[in-house]
Amino acid sequence: MLNFDGLKIDTRVFVAPMAGVTDYPYRQILREYGAEVLFTEMVSSQGLLQGNRRTKDLIEINREKPGIIGVQLFGDDPSIMAEAAALVAENHQPDMLDINMGCPARKVVSTGAGAALMQDPKRAGRITRAVVAAVELPVTVKIRLGWDSSELTAARVVEQTLEAGAAAVTVHGRTSDQFYSGQADWQAIAEIASSTSAPIIGNGDIFSAEDAQKMLETTGCQAVMLARGIQGNPWLVKASSSLIDEGRKIPEPTIEERITQALDHLQRAINYYGQERAVPLMRKHLSWYTKGLPHAARVRDWINKLIEPARIQDLLLHYRQSLSEDRELHFQHFQDFQQ
Ligand SMILES: Cc1cc2nc3c(=O)[nH]c(=O)nc-3n(C[C@H](O)[C@H](O)[C@H](O)COP(=O)(O)O)c2cc1C
Repeated sequence: MLNFDGLKIDTRVFVAPMAGVTDYPYRQILREYGAEVLFTEMVSSQGLLQGNRRTKDLIEINREKPGIIGVQLFGDDPSIMAEAAALVAENHQPDMLDINMGCPARKVVSTGAGAALMQDPKRAGRITRAVVAAVELPVTVKIRLGWDSSELTAARVVEQTLEAGAAAVTVHGRTSDQFYSGQADWQAIAEIASSTSAPIIGNGDIFSAEDAQKMLETTGCQAVMLARGIQGNPWLVKASSSLIDEGRKIPEPTIEERITQALDHLQRAINYYGQERAVPLMRKHLSWYTKGLPHAARVRDWINKLIEPARIQDLLLHYRQSLSEDRELHFQHFQDFQQ
């Protein structure tokens, strides 16, 4: 059992905040697939204080199913971050707050926020201290190894943020200038985990339950955080926790289950966003669900051309049927979707 400043956490498998991915509909799906600890997509502290409607929508919390949810904030100014944190705590009532110190996107780092904080451990500490003082909730921090390979500041940022009152730190084993390329350095995560008794959560390159288990074993982290591995694959959460907690390997989803889940996700996105917004947002998810299936590239091309959700649903239904009956027999149906 993990304890983040009094918040008891009974899983060692967390799901990462991911902008454009872990939105309201997908968080609901992830919960149903066993995710006990989730985070919202990162939101701007400035945007929140300005009362930006879209920013507020990004952190809408669904409490239908029990579980822990953290809201992730980004920003570079301690007092604005503190004010935004207090606002979120009062209006949204998450279980914890996370501070983004790892986002490498230009529009974020150019403001001094996200991974830019890896270049200024003292400021990272000041922001953490201000947020911790502003709320009663546990505050966690999510970092990278540093800005680039010549500036590996993670150990110092961990030290400063823990001293400032952070309850745990997630370490993504890459530098900011690597973005998402190269391999995450699990050894570097292990060194950080062994340097403190505070909870460290390992993150980077977990694509299977075996990876999750291996990261826990090789880094000595208290928990792991899944990110790109859950794209089109909510099953990874249960697969990872079953393997870690019970040594039990659960079977991969069937092709039919994957397409059925894609259809369910599309429907939830339509219900939440409305048809017009849902379709462009769903294209990437649909291509992730169908990745690796027969004819996936062609199906993806067709989906990318379709605008009407009903036609995408039809296409997926035909696709599921043709794959479950006979791969080639019904494939002709798809020609209709080419116009
Ligand atoms: C599309 C996308 C969006 C992301 N958005 C966020 C975010 O909002 N906040 C954050 O801390 N990290 C974000 N990340 C980083 C992930 O949380 C994670 O640290 C990173 O992908 C490494 O894990 P992985 O190799 O398992 O994917 C994002 C990553 C991706 C690919």
